[in-house]
Amino acid sequence: MAFHHKHLIDITEYSDTDLMTILDTARAFSQVNERAIKKVPTLRGKTIVNMFNEPSTRTRSSFELAEKRLSADTMNFGGSSTSTVKGESLIDTVKTLDAYKIDCIVVRDKHAGAPHIVSQASPASVIDAGDGKHQHPTQALLDLYSIREHKKSFEGLRVGIVGDIGHSRVCGSLVPALKIMGAEVVLVGPGTLMPACPEALGADQIAYDLDAILPDLDVVYMLRVQLERIEGAPFPSVREYHRLFGLTKNRERLMRPDAIICHPGPINRGVEFDSYMADHPDRSVILEQVYAGICVRMAALYLLLGGADNGLSA
Ligand code: CP
Repeated sequence: MAFHHKHLIDITEYSDTDLMTILDTARAFSQVNERAIKKVPTLRGKTIVNMFNEPSTRTRSSFELAEKRLSADTMNFGGSSTSTVKGESLIDTVKTLDAYKIDCIVVRDKHAGAPHIVSQASPASVIDAGDGKHQHPTQALLDLYSIREHKKSFEGLRVGIVGDIGHSRVCGSLVPALKIMGAEVVLVGPGTLMPACPEALGADQIAYDLDAILPDLDVVYMLRVQLERIEGAPFPSVREYHRLFGLTKNRERLMRPDAIICHPGPINRGVEFDSYMADHPDRSVILEQVYAGICVRMAALYLLLGGADNGLSA
């Protein structure tokens, strides 16, 4: 198995073979998560710092669990409890952490480009756990993993990403990842929540009418309206947004019988969908995506940090 990456920051630097290697490795590691003893010695002796300077539930908890299940030593760090509030720069913070001889830094930050800066300041491997509106590569990996479990192949698969495209770092990684794997991607949302140049994301189609697009989709990937990134009142209003772009029980009649529903979380019920669709027993794979998060993060850590033995035979 040839895997030559040191960092996971920009998913466009990964080939289809690289992505498939991570997905296959993640599937193998899912065995560990199903065992009574959920631990392998794969990264024993490695030290990983989780530097989360922005809130997170899924990404932070699954990275920490993934590291522990691979037997790495982990340190959780970041936000308002660090000396950055006293004026220490990101680079000086990273150099301080490096003095401890760490192997990997997982970075979430509200500033686009922060993981790249960290990678320039540190000899450690760096994983982007979400930076501003830029990228969220491990989210894209867990999305690919979940979609593959249901649809088997990406070739010709039609995926609609619906909602607040303009504020979404998920799109920054998921659109190129789906294109690398051979899927067709449609971005759907109100013009007011599109980026200035949506074509630059590399999707096959930009659409503004969800009802017209839904019958063509194999995967309906809903996004949260990121109200925390919108200054003033959103337009359209949340109520109008739900009426035009909410995935509701009434809209299910427009969906293909085997179309699945994804969402990166956190979800806002009553905005991007109603509870009937969010919890749909046959279509919603949202909690499967959460589970996939730990599998792909174990795989990425193992491959980036050169774990000698995946420990699965033990
Ligand atoms: N999807 C995602 O990144 O969720 P968190 O912000 O909870 O980590």
